[in-house]
Amino acid sequence: MTATYQAHGDIAVITLDNPPVNGLGHATRSGIVDGVQRALDDAAIKAIVLVGSGKGFSGGADIREFNTPKALQEPSLHTVIRVVEGSDKPVIAAIQGLAMGGGLELALGCHYRVATAGAQIALPEVKLGILPGAGGTQRLPRVIGLEQALNMIVSGTPVMSEKLSGTRLFDQMIDGDLLAGALAFAKRIADQRPLPKVRDIRIDYPNADGYLQFARNAVRTVAANYPGPQKCVEAVAAAVSKRFDDGLKFERDLFLELVQTPESKALRHAFFAERAASKIPDVPAETPLREIKSAGVIGAGTMGGGIAMNFANAGIPVKMLEMKQEALDKGLATIRKNYENSMKKGKLTQEQLDKRMSLISGTLAYEELGQADIVIEAVFEDMGVKEQVFKKLDEVMKPGAILASNTSTLDVDKIAAFTRRPQDVIGTHFFSPANVMKLLEIVRGKATGKDVLATVMALAKKIKKTGVVSGVCDGFIGNRMVEQYIRQAGFLLEEGCLPQQVDRAIEKFGFAMGPFRMSDLAGNDIGWYIRKRRYVEKPDVTYSKIADLLCEQGRFGQKTSAGWYDYKPGDRKAYPSDAVNQMIVKHSADIGVQRRKVSDEEIVERLVYALVNEGALILEEGIAMRASDIDMVYLTGYGYPLFRGGPMCYADTVGLPNVLRSIRGYAKGHHPEAWKPAPLLEKLAADGKSFNG
Ligand SMILES: NC(=O)c1ccc[n+]([C@@H]2O[C@H](COP(=O)([O-])OP(=O)(O)OC[C@H]3O[C@@H](n4cnc5c(N)ncnc54)[C@H](O)[C@@H]3O)[C@@H](O)[C@H]2O)c1
Repeated sequence: MTATYQAHGDIAVITLDNPPVNGLGHATRSGIVDGVQRALDDAAIKAIVLVGSGKGFSGGADIREFNTPKALQEPSLHTVIRVVEGSDKPVIAAIQGLAMGGGLELALGCHYRVATAGAQIALPEVKLGILPGAGGTQRLPRVIGLEQALNMIVSGTPVMSEKLSGTRLFDQMIDGDLLAGALAFAKRIADQRPLPKVRDIRIDYPNADGYLQFARNAVRTVAANYPGPQKCVEAVAAAVSKRFDDGLKFERDLFLELVQTPESKALRHAFFAERAASKIPDVPAETPLREIKSAGVIGAGTMGGGIAMNFANAGIPVKMLEMKQEALDKGLATIRKNYENSMKKGKLTQEQLDKRMSLISGTLAYEELGQADIVIEAVFEDMGVKEQVFKKLDEVMKPGAILASNTSTLDVDKIAAFTRRPQDVIGTHFFSPANVMKLLEIVRGKATGKDVLATVMALAKKIKKTGVVSGVCDGFIGNRMVEQYIRQAGFLLEEGCLPQQVDRAIEKFGFAMGPFRMSDLAGNDIGWYIRKRRYVEKPDVTYSKIADLLCEQGRFGQKTSAGWYDYKPGDRKAYPSDAVNQMIVKHSADIGVQRRKVSDEEIVERLVYALVNEGALILEEGIAMRASDIDMVYLTGYGYPLFRGGPMCYADTVGLPNVLRSIRGYAKGHHPEAWKPAPLLEKLAADGKSFNG
């Protein structure tokens, strides 16, 4: 039973009991309806208290029932709320911990609500691209006012119960034991009639139309690509302009409309993809973890410093090792400056800064790292240097310490083989800036221990990263795919585009940054270095030479104030460069390519499908465990637009036969060798299937 019934004298108590957050799954919904009926049938009962077991009232829909017939099976949440609201004995919601989504909508259907301080109150549906569809948009404005309700519904952000204590949302705030307080309240109001109903409250707001128009404009600006927030405004507007039941119906219609949008599908996909990413089929949830109480980082450069900050932010002491004192001092000073910048922005207090800095120390001696539970190497991207470092770590680290590498391209199995404990070696691929970016690619070597993998997955969560497991291959999931994307971007320049056109097209599609602005930020020399290696190791892979010509001119990007674009001192804005554009046009002539006008649609297709095709290969080779993991990598590490759900999700939305048809078309173009359709894509398209099932 996921809802229990107990009589406390003449008050019935229905307890929602569906851990972890009392989600309103089918059994719980049925339990509430049965409980109310039982209380109504019992002449001795005068009032009904609805309360949650454990730490909260209810977190809303039970996500385990999402996309299953049970989610809609009667009694639906609408029915539950109708039963509760229609009860002729008063129903009181007793709230603590959290009342979110359907949980809050249920509480709003009750005649009274009491709450303790510290409960999180929210209607977060908009975060999944939908809106509260069980009366939330109609009832919340009636109890907390138009503006505050609109803000909560459009943002989905929780508000603490005490902040809402002066409103009609709560009839009483309870100090001390919630149930005792709720029972006392119930006794006091048990005989009062008529029963108050939120639906009967009038929304009193002078010039609501003006305010709503302002809200529409604001939402359209900040959430242009998301229909959810815009429909939320319309639903709330209906609460003002329509009769309650008409408003409910309007809300329902908008809900059904939103559920079908690609944006909502993408957001829900991302929500489940994040949960799925933490599950590794052959590593059971009960795998014992190694304890991580201290950490070491080798190299205090760009990545090492950011990685160290992650540990300090999570309260884990961390020691950074460098070869020279100057490099160490520089690394520590950069970290301090980063924290000071956060403090200036009001994101950190002086006390927090001091605390975090006190957790970070430096050393030049490997021996001083020996007792760390995990050590992450972030030295130069060179196998020789990695070899020295890992041999040394193998000597000094205590048994059972995890030895991780932040390499972005090198073979983690080879690195593991430098040690006598390959089971303890793993890749932890952070993204720059490492203290900011959410993604952590966790590279599982062929010998990596299951407990090591499970420990690093748990560590990812602790340092607030999204951990995604990748197998070993050149570039792992993210960089291996991005190489194909950057390659296409180069070919587009040869064929007729300029960097600003390519960037503009893909940014309009929703990417945070186009490939050329991104390369200028990361440093064009990094790609140059990798290509030079490729020219030797994989001579049959073709690249446009334009990026090499750019680097030969020392145009490495923002750091040299010149890259694909020009930069002005102290200004990160990218200004189109005449010199670069002329060089591009000249190069096309030099290689005998007649430049042509390329449409934005072609640019987007070629860049995105290059990702998709490589993603399909990665999936087929088992480098990624599931298509949604690839999507997570792109959403959290590469600025892929969330409302499109990641490249594989997007391909599913477009339809794999359509993607394949385009790829075959491009294979007839300027660089056919770059467009060999992945067998998995061909197979899924032929079978009428999709990547994400
Ligand atoms: N920069 C990025 O965007 C990025 C992203 C992901 C991964 N990575 C990877 O992270 C690693 C570090 O990259 P980075 O950008 O921080 O480089 P960086 O040049 O900024 O820093 C490397 C640091 O390592 C130190 N170092 C070199 N050899 C050492 C040794 N033997 N012992 C101790 N310290 C040593 C150097 O003094 C330098 O401070 C590389 O493997 C790189 O591929 C970089």
